[in-house]
Amino acid sequence: MTVDRIAIALGTRPEIIKMAPVIRECERRGLNCDLIHTGQHYSDNLDQVFFDQLELPEPDYHLGVGSDSHGQQTAAMIAGIEEILLDTEPDALLVQGDTNSVLAGAIAASKLDVELGHVEAGLRSFDREMPEETNRVLTDHAADYLFAPTTESEQYLLDEGIDEDFIHVVGNTVVDAVHQNRSLAVEKSDVLDTFGLESREYVLLTAHRAENVDSRDRFQGLLAGVEETSHLLDAEVVYPIHPRAENKLDEFDIPVPESVRLVEPQDYLDFLKLQDNAQLILTDSGGVQEEACVLQVPCVTLRDNTERPETVDVGANKLAGTDPETIVQSVLHMLDKPADWENPFGDGTTSKQILETIMTKQTVKVIQ
Ligand code: UD1
Ligand code: UDP
Repeated sequence: MTVDRIAIALGTRPEIIKMAPVIRECERRGLNCDLIHTGQHYSDNLDQVFFDQLELPEPDYHLGVGSDSHGQQTAAMIAGIEEILLDTEPDALLVQGDTNSVLAGAIAASKLDVELGHVEAGLRSFDREMPEETNRVLTDHAADYLFAPTTESEQYLLDEGIDEDFIHVVGNTVVDAVHQNRSLAVEKSDVLDTFGLESREYVLLTAHRAENVDSRDRFQGLLAGVEETSHLLDAEVVYPIHPRAENKLDEFDIPVPESVRLVEPQDYLDFLKLQDNAQLILTDSGGVQEEACVLQVPCVTLRDNTERPETVDVGANKLAGTDPETIVQSVLHMLDKPADWENPFGDGTTSKQILETIMTKQTVKVIQ
């Protein structure tokens, strides 16, 4: 059976960035690909800026779902994606990651005669309090192609009883994206000049996870640890702030430490350059943990767990949670050793391998 039409569903900043290499690979192969945007992210600086900068085609379908409760948001996306899949009849739908947009795509495809490919399958934090963990587990169990980034993620899937024939260890498209854009960032981004920053003399922070910023105590602890870190290193902290976090800062009326500079969410090339030149990255983002590891910049993760344990295992990352003292100790630990780890996420050919797999190795999906 030949594959001549696929669909890709995405809805948030990390999905746009990490699907971009897959979309490019479809274009390179001349494969008919319908791009479905759920509209989960809609602010220009979380959405359109990445389409423009990464020169992606505009979505063929835009559901415009926007922000809502998880149930309302996911339900609207399922209904919208189902209608498009019924209309366009693709051979496969690809989703990437662990957001509500991903779960919606998974549910819609799995109930139709459309194979589901999950890019970044098998990640596990083992923390069911996180909406992302539920999304990724359910998506993996609905998928026909599970594109696991590492053998560790493959093992989690096997442990859950998923058929090994469905699992393909292909690395992570984050490496493809970094390879495709790192030198462009060096060439085109003047973000360091704009912010008056010197290479290796500042700390980069991102924090947006619901489990951190939706809790006053955790958000306050996190910022206290960041402030102590900036004093310890005598370095300014640059914090491109996600709207969820910004809203919560306002709601909780938490003062921002003087050494922390809040800036707007950055476009991809500027953010890559900010990462590449940071002395240290503090984050609760999934994608940023991976990118720091690929870019050889020490990372301290402001969470109690990570679904990217490979970054910790190779020595690129340390888990600190949100306790200020633990954050400072973790920073000292990371800065006290050379940044000479191996990147565990592949060689930048992940999107090619994904397309190759889909176009040559069909799984057999049985619809009751
Ligand atoms: C979502 C994902 C999270 C991912 C993050 C990437 C889920 C459950 N969460 O979190 O895993 O790490 O995207 O950035 O899918 N908002 C805007 N503009 C936007 C989008 C959101 O201002 O374009 C504000 C709204 O107030 C909204 C809040 O941010 O209520 C949260 O947005 P939402 O999409 O629900 O979750 P994220 O925190 O972005
Ligand atoms: N990112 C960006 N600008 C920013 C912050 C992050 O372009 O101001 C990129 C970052 O390089 C990474 C992705 O956004 O590729 C991570 O997304 P996010 O942290 O929102 O989500 P997560 O990965 O935690 O799901």
